Amino acid sequence: MNSYSLTHLVLVLLALPFPPTPPPLYCLPGAVGGDRNITARIGKPLVLNCRGAPKKPPQQLEWKLNTGRTEAWKVLSPQGGSWDSVARVLPNGSLLLPAVGIQDEGTFRCRATSRKGKETRSAYQVRVYQTPGKPEIINPASELMAGVPNKVGTCVSEGGYPAGTLNWHSDGKPLIPDGKGVSVEEETRRHPKTGLFTLQSELTVIPAQGGAPHPTFSCSFSPGLPRRRALHTAPIQLTVWEPVPREVQVMVQPEGGKVVLGGTLTLTCETPAQSSLQIHWIKDGIPLHIPPTPVLLFHKVKLEDQGTYSCVATHPSHEPQESPAVHVIIGETSLQTPGILGLGSLEGQGLGTVALALGILGGLGIAALLIGAIMWRRQKAPENQEEEEERAELNQSVEPEAAESSAGGP
Ligand SMILES: *[C@@H]1O[C@H](CO)[C@@H](O)[C@H](O)[C@H]1NC(C)=O
Ligand SMILES: *[C@@H]1O[C@H](CO)[C@@H](O)[C@H](O)[C@H]1NC(C)=O
Repeated sequence: MNSYSLTHLVLVLLALPFPPTPPPLYCLPGAVGGDRNITARIGKPLVLNCRGAPKKPPQQLEWKLNTGRTEAWKVLSPQGGSWDSVARVLPNGSLLLPAVGIQDEGTFRCRATSRKGKETRSAYQVRVYQTPGKPEIINPASELMAGVPNKVGTCVSEGGYPAGTLNWHSDGKPLIPDGKGVSVEEETRRHPKTGLFTLQSELTVIPAQGGAPHPTFSCSFSPGLPRRRALHTAPIQLTVWEPVPREVQVMVQPEGGKVVLGGTLTLTCETPAQSSLQIHWIKDGIPLHIPPTPVLLFHKVKLEDQGTYSCVATHPSHEPQESPAVHVIIGETSLQTPGILGLGSLEGQGLGTVALALGILGGLGIAALLIGAIMWRRQKAPENQEEEEERAELNQSVEPEAAESSAGGP
């Protein structure tokens, strides 16, 4: 036996195209022939044929193996011996492993010489497997909170070989751990006696705000050997709670909502999760008939644009939310600084003029009121003085009054 034949074997195997329906290599008990990879189920018998060997003794053949049980190559004698319980050569030249174990993984080779003296070699690469029990999700959550990390549950697969992997799915799509919205904590344990694997995978997700309200989660076990089917857990369905949304509000640009005629006005509806929300607008209590949009942009403000605005955020999973109303006031001063000049700083000037004018008017008004009040007090004050003086006089001398009255009397 030489390295050439093994290299040749591997090359041939690599070149083999995948058949549309893979032959059940593990179908046991049965015989397999040729140079190939063999997958055998743990605990089951396996028969490897020695190609070219005469069906009956006398035969000229040699089986040798290099597995987890051997130091290096071990040659099996057709006479049998201590290895009989592990592997023995059958009368027809095939090799029987009564119960395949993890330690039997390795290479098996046979060299046979036919009665005519022709030499034939067979080689097998044996791998063993054990299908684990159906995976299960233990400690499943019943509800999740959007926007924060939540443990969904722990998927457990017990008693498989080779280890294989556990994968999570949500609503039929694979969940790829990204360390942000999806993270997985895995643990692989090996049974000390059987050598079989127990896998655990704990899934933590951050459900997106405004995402699916009732997502399903499932887990699947993917075997470590090709062409073996995955095993799926029953899906679990969870309810996602949205956090109480931040109040919806309208931001106005320019601030304060005072804008000159022909100027630019921007109303932005600020919501907790803008992506999945539909934003409608209300002006002076009447819904605007425009497609939903979070931003209302007025390039050249008209007088009709004046009014109160609010936005309504609607979402399939919670009540629509209306923002408090904001007031938009259109100043007319830009009639003096017409549209051509009506740019940023000039608009500001226009606004400043309005403010100034309002201020002056307000100031004048207050002054007028003050003057009025003072005048009124002035007019009123002497009267009061006279009254008080009268009362004082009366209090001071009752008798003179009496005298007076008596004096003035008839
Ligand atoms: C056979 O096994 C070898 C080694 O385990 C691997 O590299 C090769 O891809 C396998 N061939 C096939 C056809 O599965
Ligand atoms: C040899 O005998 C075994 C057991 O009876 C059988 O499974 C196998 O197919 C036989 N090998 C050949 C090459 O006929």
